[in-house]
Amino acid sequence: MLRKFLLTTAALVGITAMAHADEVEVLHWWTSGGEAAALDVLKKDLESKGVVWKDMPVAGGGGEAAMTALRARVTAGNPPTAVQGLGFDITDWAKQGALGDLNEVAAAEGWDKVVPTALQNFSKYDGKWIAAPVNVHSTNWVWINKAALDAAGGKAPETWEEMVAVLDKMKANGITALAHGGQAWQEATMFDAVVLSMGPDFYKAAMIDLDPAALSGDKMVEVFNRMAKLRSYVDDNFSGRDWNLASAMVIEGKGGMQMMGDWAKGEFLKAGKKPGVDFVCIRFPGTQGAVTFNSDQFMMFKVGADQQKAQLLMASAIENPSFQSAFNVVKGSVPARTDVPNDAFDDCGKKGMADLAEANTKGTLMGSMAHGHAAPAAVKNAVYDVVTRHFNGEMDSAAAAAALAEAVAAAKG
Ligand code: BGC
Repeated sequence: MLRKFLLTTAALVGITAMAHADEVEVLHWWTSGGEAAALDVLKKDLESKGVVWKDMPVAGGGGEAAMTALRARVTAGNPPTAVQGLGFDITDWAKQGALGDLNEVAAAEGWDKVVPTALQNFSKYDGKWIAAPVNVHSTNWVWINKAALDAAGGKAPETWEEMVAVLDKMKANGITALAHGGQAWQEATMFDAVVLSMGPDFYKAAMIDLDPAALSGDKMVEVFNRMAKLRSYVDDNFSGRDWNLASAMVIEGKGGMQMMGDWAKGEFLKAGKKPGVDFVCIRFPGTQGAVTFNSDQFMMFKVGADQQKAQLLMASAIENPSFQSAFNVVKGSVPARTDVPNDAFDDCGKKGMADLAEANTKGTLMGSMAHGHAAPAAVKNAVYDVVTRHFNGEMDSAAAAAALAEAVAAAKG
């Protein structure tokens, strides 16, 4: 009897061990309601393929905290299987030789032909696929409560002046006109859109080419003036607020609008809200026809031979066209491949896909500074610092433009 019990237990343990052979440990910062719902699509997809999911969430939009946690794991010689990463951070890890090689699956599935070049620039290093792109987000969006917009005249703003007029009306109507979370990355997200509203050429000169004249000149002073104007529409409790709580204010009608990447749409959908009915999505006024993008990619770290099968399975599952549709419909983003039909997407998603294609053709598709696609982390952090200090009233607009040029020059090294 005892022997039989022991044998059965051993068999069970064996089965468990076998199951765990196909395990992926995934580090990410998708912890809000909408993000978790999207993550669940990936988790379930992998589980249906027999892959065990070991979750390692590190909260914090923009991923700064997640990247700190990652450094600790890599330093300890024990990286997770797959890690959510943005733009230049991926390249940095590749340069350090920390990432694996997905070429086998990428070649078999023809990723080169369907993943846009703007993403491949980060998914590949030295001819090798090192990350699997999940989506394309963009930061130059505004999410408006429909009833609050109707009460403010009903017309979605198309210019900076029209937007200020709507914000004024919302404020007069007694709501928080601009729902905002006072965290550096959130201010930087808004800054992406405000810089882009001065023209895609200016965005490119300042945020991508890091041209000192653009960073310190009159247009940048005007960008900071606009940021200060936006600051006048936030409520007293904005400091430190998480982005999804700012989304919740707009969802509930306590806030008029939020200027945030399209992950905000994930929150509206999770709350059962419908675009065009409960909320309106527009490009930040003055940025129509241009897009500041960021793409979440899963960086695949160098792991032992025992984990490689599951890692490749995960990479392949992510690039599957039906997964790309199912996941991005929930996440608020758009697919990372050009051949995914838009049928399942709502109007904001369809607009996101069309805007991306248009910007790509016109040469107005720009990497987001706030989300790591314009410059490496040192420069990004320098921008965060100046933008947030100015937003919090520590310096005026002229001083901020001068400080920005100086901080970026120092960070560039
Ligand atoms: C990521 C999004 C995420 C957002 C807020 C961005 O950097 O690209 O996927 O939803 O941060 O957490």
